[in-house]
Amino acid sequence: MTETALENLTQRLKQAIPALIDNAPVFLDAPSGTQMPRTVLDAMNQYVTVGTANRGGIFPTSLETESLLLDTRRKVCALLGASDHQVVFGQNMTSLAFNAASSLRRDWADPSKSVVVSELDHHANIDPWISCADDAGMAARWLPVDPHRYCLDLSGLDALVDDDCALVAVGLSSNAVGTASDIGPIIDRARSVGAVSVVDAVHGLSHIPVDVDELGADITFFSAYKIFGPHIGAMVIRNDALDRIRFHKLAPAPRTGYGKAELGTQNMEAVAGLSATIDFVASFGDDVSADLRHQITSAIGNFARCEEELTDHFVAGLQTIDGVTLARAPHGIPKTSTVAFTVTAASPESVAFACAKEGVYITHGDFYARTLAERTDVAHAGGWLRAGIAPYHDRDDIDRALNVLDRAIRLARRQP
Ligand SMILES: Cc1ncc(COP(=O)(O)O)c(C=O)c1O
Repeated sequence: MTETALENLTQRLKQAIPALIDNAPVFLDAPSGTQMPRTVLDAMNQYVTVGTANRGGIFPTSLETESLLLDTRRKVCALLGASDHQVVFGQNMTSLAFNAASSLRRDWADPSKSVVVSELDHHANIDPWISCADDAGMAARWLPVDPHRYCLDLSGLDALVDDDCALVAVGLSSNAVGTASDIGPIIDRARSVGAVSVVDAVHGLSHIPVDVDELGADITFFSAYKIFGPHIGAMVIRNDALDRIRFHKLAPAPRTGYGKAELGTQNMEAVAGLSATIDFVASFGDDVSADLRHQITSAIGNFARCEEELTDHFVAGLQTIDGVTLARAPHGIPKTSTVAFTVTAASPESVAFACAKEGVYITHGDFYARTLAERTDVAHAGGWLRAGIAPYHDRDDIDRALNVLDRAIRLARRQP
């Protein structure tokens, strides 16, 4: 896409998203959740307006609900490039992961086994696995982070992921500092020792086209609210893994397929929203005549290109502000548009508060990447400030954010 085409894409997004119209704040909180387009809001509204229903009925609203669920599962497979998988909906990634972990734990009987998690990750991809391992008397092993380079150190991968390993969980990219990890070798290694492989794509999916077939992961999670959608999570699980795992389930629920892992009545209006979200994403692909999968991957590539130039501009601007220290992997290590930093002599909260008063919404804290915050020595000082650049931002937004940040930082540093 040309530069002008990318600018047009951003303007299209701005017009499609009600929260961004006219004097909107600069929402730099995209890693906590993106703003929603009108088509998604309309789809949710429409689903309930014409009459909602649960599954299992032989009347139109129930049959329509069933077909909405089936169609959305198909679209989720296209979103993730998953062909031999089932899609399990749930409230959010955290609850889906806890259910998967506690179900796996039912067959974790050997205390000499271990699970491997990553120091770079959000704790939603750590605690479900290590707490259930702990219940089974199993150990947790950690893929270490290099605290100076903000990336995983994979030099000890083969020793860490050995025949005693029952599960390996890793994130596609860090929701705190944006590092995109090279997860292919980790998943390959997990599979070669027979461990269950888990990918947390919650942060990465809106920036990096994901191909679950190619990756070969057993379980992949995402949450729609990070990619223009409503608050709903999904677990995409390989059929053979789904067959093997004894998911906690109600007796009358199906024994096979996604139904054995999906708990209770789903948030159908959010499913309707997710379906519209995937169509919305696909509409930013290069070739509208291509199949859904190709439209989605090219759209996500286009989003990433929009974000890249703005992120460079933002990072360069931050580097000119006195007292700012970036928490960012060095050149050459792939990263998303999520930028974390600290400010000498000012708490992240005080800077975020001053920015909020001027209409720039920037987040602060450890973002549940608690272990990373500890390893990089920011946990004791309130974590980081974090700006998430989305494809709906333009250069004016970023310049406004930099100006406001500059003032906010001066103010916060003057205060005792
Ligand atoms: C990388 C990552 N994983 C997992 C989660 C948890 O997702 P959910 O809120 O859907 O439970 C988040 C939420 O911020 C996240 O950023």
